[in-house]
Amino acid sequence: MARYDYGGRTVLITGAGSGLGHLAAAAFAAAGARLALADIDLGTLNATVATLPASADRVLAMRCDVAINSEVQQFVAATVARFERLDVAINNAGIGHPLARIEDCDESVFDRNIAVNLKGVFLCLRAELPPMVRQGGGVILNVASVAGVTGAPLLGPYAAAKHGVIGLTRTAALEYAQRNVRINALCPGFTDTPLLDPLRERGSTLQNMAAANPMRRLARPEEIVQAMLWACADDNGFLNGQAITLDGGLTAG
Ligand SMILES: NC(=O)c1ccc[n+]([C@@H]2O[C@H](COP(=O)([O-])OP(=O)(O)OC[C@H]3O[C@@H](n4cnc5c(N)ncnc54)[C@H](O)[C@@H]3O)[C@@H](O)[C@H]2O)c1
Repeated sequence: MARYDYGGRTVLITGAGSGLGHLAAAAFAAAGARLALADIDLGTLNATVATLPASADRVLAMRCDVAINSEVQQFVAATVARFERLDVAINNAGIGHPLARIEDCDESVFDRNIAVNLKGVFLCLRAELPPMVRQGGGVILNVASVAGVTGAPLLGPYAAAKHGVIGLTRTAALEYAQRNVRINALCPGFTDTPLLDPLRERGSTLQNMAAANPMRRLARPEEIVQAMLWACADDNGFLNGQAITLDGGLTAG
């Protein structure tokens, strides 16, 4: 990965117990950041912390369900109390759901997907923006999906939530542009993380996903985390309000 310098920066990452969040924690730690990490699963979150090179006084790790306002507020407040700043927030926590046409989708599946993938980002934004405004600026990156840019057959609730994340991102970017907070969304195509495990168990589906991509493969997690480092860097000061698609060219046609 290209080198970035996040020395002296406080970087918050949700969903840091697995996949992209886990790798992002390692990458930002290697770049010198102080880390505030959260996950709904404290066991996997602690496992992430155990792999970090950063010394313990530079890492705050808390269990937090991003769908619950009080937990999000407590996590962000603890971050600011500990590090006195919040420079970068990566709202990455997310869930998938069983593949189903809309008529076969359970209401509870839809509700939980919207609660975590969309309301979770809203609650994080609401908690993160005030400290960033108070300190004179910051950067927020919401992890959406290519399913937030195009339709995603059999993933209706997920696609609805991720489209919503992009709408929230663009709106927040316009609302906070003059307060020096840059807000973007990252939209990966299928990436090889544990999120795909349910599909992996149905091997042919995963192969079909790779075959449908112009590059005939899934994204590597490192490629997505590289874009996180780039998008949030101080010298990337004019990138704002964008849905940055990383999909091997899938949406180009
Ligand atoms: N892997 C892909 O193909 C892909 C593609 C596009 C977008 N994304 C998005 O990237 C993000 C990260 O996904 P990943 O692939 O690393 O998946 P992952 O399953 O490996 O990691 C997601 C993490 O989020 C945590 N999480 C789930 N619900 C939570 C909640 N309510 N509160 C806090 N933490 C919670 C999980 O415990 C897990 O540690 C998600 O937003 C996902 O939608 C993934």
